[in-house]
Amino acid sequence: MKVGIIGSGTMGIGIAQVAATSGCEVFLYDTNVAQTEKSLANLKKILDILVEKQKIAEEKSEYIFNKIKPCTKLLDFKDCDLVIEAIIENKEIKTKVFQNLEEIVSDKCIISSNTSSISITSLSSELKIPSRFIGIHFFNPAPLMPLVEVIPGLLTENKLAQEIYTLMESWGKIPVIAKDVPGFIVNRIARSFYGEALRIVEENIATPEQVDDAMRTLGNFKMGPFELMDLIGIDVNFSVTKTVYADYFHDPKYKPSLLQQRMAEGKLLGRKTGKGFYDYSKESQEPRV
Ligand code: NAI
Repeated sequence: MKVGIIGSGTMGIGIAQVAATSGCEVFLYDTNVAQTEKSLANLKKILDILVEKQKIAEEKSEYIFNKIKPCTKLLDFKDCDLVIEAIIENKEIKTKVFQNLEEIVSDKCIISSNTSSISITSLSSELKIPSRFIGIHFFNPAPLMPLVEVIPGLLTENKLAQEIYTLMESWGKIPVIAKDVPGFIVNRIARSFYGEALRIVEENIATPEQVDDAMRTLGNFKMGPFELMDLIGIDVNFSVTKTVYADYFHDPKYKPSLLQQRMAEGKLLGRKTGKGFYDYSKESQEPRV
């Protein structure tokens, strides 16, 4: 199977690894060529570590890496059976990419988005063939997180959700079919998790470190909310909250945080920029606020 991935950032490269591991021929495209090079170099390091730890054989590592072809133009996607988009969380930009893509791929190609919050129905409605469009929502980091939400929109062909469900199982994932509502399942629940944590810090009740510590050490969570926001990306997390808030008609329980807005504006985006709630540049984990 030929799979095109648009966007080689945090999620795109992870999804590429998952698809390549399952034997797919993967085409990876990003407008930022340097990002693709950086992501592939990181993937190489991860694969080397897996070999070192004897989690995979050297041949398997080479096999996975060689299955991913970096592309500099969308035209390279012309023979793809499935395209998964993982670019910036912005409806207008995603729509433009899908419209360009439809001019290139065959009518049979399945087009999907890894969006965390944008309505699948609204994205599909801008396409020439809306019935081929579906949400395939991986979690971060995609190679490690088993869950995948499969989200058919109102215009998605009936049998497509089951087809993607089966495909995700064959990729070693545990899929769940979710309705096309803002935030789907996990990101809707998660809004309260992040939102309350941000309010606790904004009201000076506790520091990010204290909150994370309480959730991790005492609450048995794998990561605290601030560590998780830094991993996801403050910009991505903020965009998702804004979309969910707007799409639930400004229900105050989803109200975005001003602190998070300022951090996104200041490019304090978390691990990917070296600083977020914690400082990663010095490899310490000191909270910033
Ligand atoms: P990212 O910021 O790490 O990567 C996005 C990439 O898209 C960048 O490399 C950028 O150069 C590229 N890009 C932007 N516009 C483009 C265009 N027009 N054509 C081609 N490439 C373009 O973002 P991330 O975190 O990978 O998120 C991508 C998508 O996945 C978003 O929709 C996000 O909501 C979703 N998502 C993110 C998760 C996370 O934890 N970060 C988890 C699950 C879903």
